[in-house]
Amino acid sequence: MGYISATKRKSILDIKKKKEKHDKISMLTCYDYTMAKIIDGAQIDILLVGDSASNVFSGNTDTLPISLDEIIYHAKAVVKGSSQALVVVDMPFGSYQVSEEKTIEAAIRIIKETGANAIKLEGGAEYASVIKKLVGIGIPVMGHLGLTPQSVHQMGGYQVQAKEDATANELISDAIALEAAGCFSLVVEKIPADLAGKLTDQLGIPTLGIGAGVQCDGQVLVVNDMLGMNPAIKLKFAREYVNLSTTIDLAVKQYIQDVQAGTFPGLHESY
Ligand code: KIV
Repeated sequence: MGYISATKRKSILDIKKKKEKHDKISMLTCYDYTMAKIIDGAQIDILLVGDSASNVFSGNTDTLPISLDEIIYHAKAVVKGSSQALVVVDMPFGSYQVSEEKTIEAAIRIIKETGANAIKLEGGAEYASVIKKLVGIGIPVMGHLGLTPQSVHQMGGYQVQAKEDATANELISDAIALEAAGCFSLVVEKIPADLAGKLTDQLGIPTLGIGAGVQCDGQVLVVNDMLGMNPAIKLKFAREYVNLSTTIDLAVKQYIQDVQAGTFPGLHESY
């Protein structure tokens, strides 16, 4: 059969190989076409259409409200804007907790309607059975342990997780269950760096840390945090590589001044 060589996109095999070669994996969240073009052009390994869109795009206080239709809308734009990164899409709260059948239906919608390459879901061994089924029908799954923002009410906040021996051991056995179920990689959020290191050594699949120290196989950040888009948010684990909120503020103020002074548009900007 003649297959069109689909794209030059990275595959889950490329991501797994990176761990074998001790080559660190880079991942950023992304929610729209324009940003996807820029980040993908910079050769990021993985674009995550995160449910953090609920916070940074829609202004909600947590990730719970985003719907399946909304994440699909964002994912379509990110897939269109990218050509080389692996695109992973978060399954929104409510889309995988009801039944295995509904989970599979939701995951199929994401893959079929967006053209994305994989899905991510939060949680441990309790999802092993459905993850096995998703992988079995050809949908790659990224796991997510530690701080799982969709459980914010159960966790009572966004504090560091798995600090005690008992909770650390629970996290390790969840991670082993996720790997055995077929996850191709695992996000570990806000856990002690030593635990993330231990987990990274123990697992055959890559770990992607956010607030989990340097020993992970790769790192992920919310793009708005690393670009300094919200001056009200200062997170210990999120390095700000640029302060875009200040840059944008200055540019907009200059534009307003130019409009008021009648210096924009100039002759060269007019027909
Ligand atoms: O939605 C998101 O931004 C995430 C990252 C924190 C990993 O899941």
